[in-house]
Amino acid sequence: MCGIVGYIGTQAATGILLAGLEKLEYRGYDSAGIATVLEGNIHCVRAKGKLHNLREKLEQIENPAQVGIGHTRWATHGKPEEYNAHPHMDTARRVAVVQNGIIENYRELREELKQLGHEFRSDTDTEVIPHLIAQLLAEYSSSPNQHSSPFLEAVRQAVNKLEGAFAIAIICADYPDELIIARQQAPLAIGLGQGEFFCASDAPALVPHTRAVLTLESGELARLTPLGVEVYTFAGDRLKKHPRTLNWNPVLVEKQGFKHFMLKEIYEQPGVVRACLEAYLNTDWNPASPGQMPIRLGLPAELYADLEQIQIVACGTSWHAGLVGKYLLEQLAGIPTMVQYASEFRYAPSPLTPNTLMIGVTQSGETADTLAALTMEKERRDGLLPKFQPRLLGITNRLESSLAQMVPHIIDTHAGIEIGVAATKTFVAQLMAFYCLALDIAYLRQTISPDRLEQIIIGLRQLPAEIEVVLEIQERYIQQLVHDFAETQDFIFLGRGINFPIALEGALKLKEISYIHAEGYPAGEMKHGPIALLDAKVPVVAIAMPGSVYEKVLSNAQEAKARDARLIGITPMNAPEAAEIFDDVIPVPSVEELLSPILSVIPLQLLAYHIAARRGLDVDQPRNLAKSVTVE
Ligand code: G6P
Repeated sequence: MCGIVGYIGTQAATGILLAGLEKLEYRGYDSAGIATVLEGNIHCVRAKGKLHNLREKLEQIENPAQVGIGHTRWATHGKPEEYNAHPHMDTARRVAVVQNGIIENYRELREELKQLGHEFRSDTDTEVIPHLIAQLLAEYSSSPNQHSSPFLEAVRQAVNKLEGAFAIAIICADYPDELIIARQQAPLAIGLGQGEFFCASDAPALVPHTRAVLTLESGELARLTPLGVEVYTFAGDRLKKHPRTLNWNPVLVEKQGFKHFMLKEIYEQPGVVRACLEAYLNTDWNPASPGQMPIRLGLPAELYADLEQIQIVACGTSWHAGLVGKYLLEQLAGIPTMVQYASEFRYAPSPLTPNTLMIGVTQSGETADTLAALTMEKERRDGLLPKFQPRLLGITNRLESSLAQMVPHIIDTHAGIEIGVAATKTFVAQLMAFYCLALDIAYLRQTISPDRLEQIIIGLRQLPAEIEVVLEIQERYIQQLVHDFAETQDFIFLGRGINFPIALEGALKLKEISYIHAEGYPAGEMKHGPIALLDAKVPVVAIAMPGSVYEKVLSNAQEAKARDARLIGITPMNAPEAAEIFDDVIPVPSVEELLSPILSVIPLQLLAYHIAARRGLDVDQPRNLAKSVTVE
């Protein structure tokens, strides 16, 4: 949700900033801008729309400036127009700011600053920041207490007046050797080079230049100069921080011959499942070696002790993974589990229950609502009797994220960086984390026999090859099938039991990238409403995998067929009864019901992808969405 970058060093900044923004475009892409300091002035270029519009403008200008900031926007306050694009400047155009987040008290600040003569040019909350800093700099220059860096001091005072969650980067025409950055909740990291320093909302913008990364924490600001980096608290105390080395390969953030990142990421799923299995399963375990633990998630036994309830909070696709998790935790480990949207939980939390494990699921580790729900839960449990104390676990794909800093225990989903805005491989990785968590708890609580556990583990190990079969056989078929949906405006997805969340996920994928209205429904509920929508123009996709609800789903599908709907079935291979019912069948290997979501979701991802690609839409950066939603 908005990406920010900054550079200070010995090279021309513009190209580096543009390349950085390109890597962050998944965070927002409705406008972009860059500001640099050159010959005592700020040069600011902004453009509405995708980054290429900004690039075209910049190509016409030669700019050797060696310090600058850049921004790619996902609009919160103010329409996506050029005048609202970042960077924003003060009235005299001496201070330029880029921001990711929301300044909640911007109205009051704007009024105060207007009274003082500052002229505002945009509808954004961000614009108060450069005016405020310019005001503080002006007041400061006439004060007798001089600071070694007036610019740093003015920013420090300014951030103490800002309310909300934000990450900002600021340059000033009067301090051309300084780039100041600050963070309150929204993410921000510094890349350490040789005589050059970078900052960015997210690591993909840093790894092409350096793997040495310093993560700024909430309530910290930093001064970057060509000579080094100084980090301070908002109170002004200097901090000593040590960089981490990112174990990342920049090739991971390339398309590698695929037309879109999303398709590449769909194809990476067998490898992701293998990586999860390698990380989570203990190869030395078998039912005859009870001394060994079958699963190794690195979680301490206290986390599970006397567990009475599990509470999952998440948003979007991660929430769907949470629903599959609930099924597994209840059915395998026998623990009552609630799954809530983090944005709902924050304002209507469930009553406190004893011995409750709270799990936050977020691939980015930065979703504001999920982080806030976890913080709230921690705060309301802190200081209570031991059995009510917070037990927090995070499931994330980003070990360097805010989530990982916030909760004491993490399951890393090992999916590698995901660039496509619509989550695919990280969803499957989250499911793998839930399988192993549920099995781990079930084993410890002895709600599963060693033989049954071994049977499930064998099934899990077969999944990568089975996903490969689906990709190999079904992609071409789905590519043909989507020709029939050129004019389709509505889709219904049906599933039951453990595949109900997959129906939701199939509908969400289609909505997100093809802009077709789609609803996911529990198949048995269709007759209580959505059936009224059905006619020959509304295709129904039903997930009918062998198991307890197979026959039921086939009956529900027939109810749709009787209303003339075109029926598409995600079915097991060699199922003549299904072939008879469905107009189109997309068979996947026949696995036991419990494991089927990992296979049934693949054709739904491909269906959404090919419908959107055939419509010529921007699959990786669908309109109005952002991959990392760092605002409430
Ligand atoms: C955004 C993304 C979704 C994602 C959701 C939650 O809406 O577009 O793909 O599922 O945020 O993100 P998280 O990082 O918390 O999993």
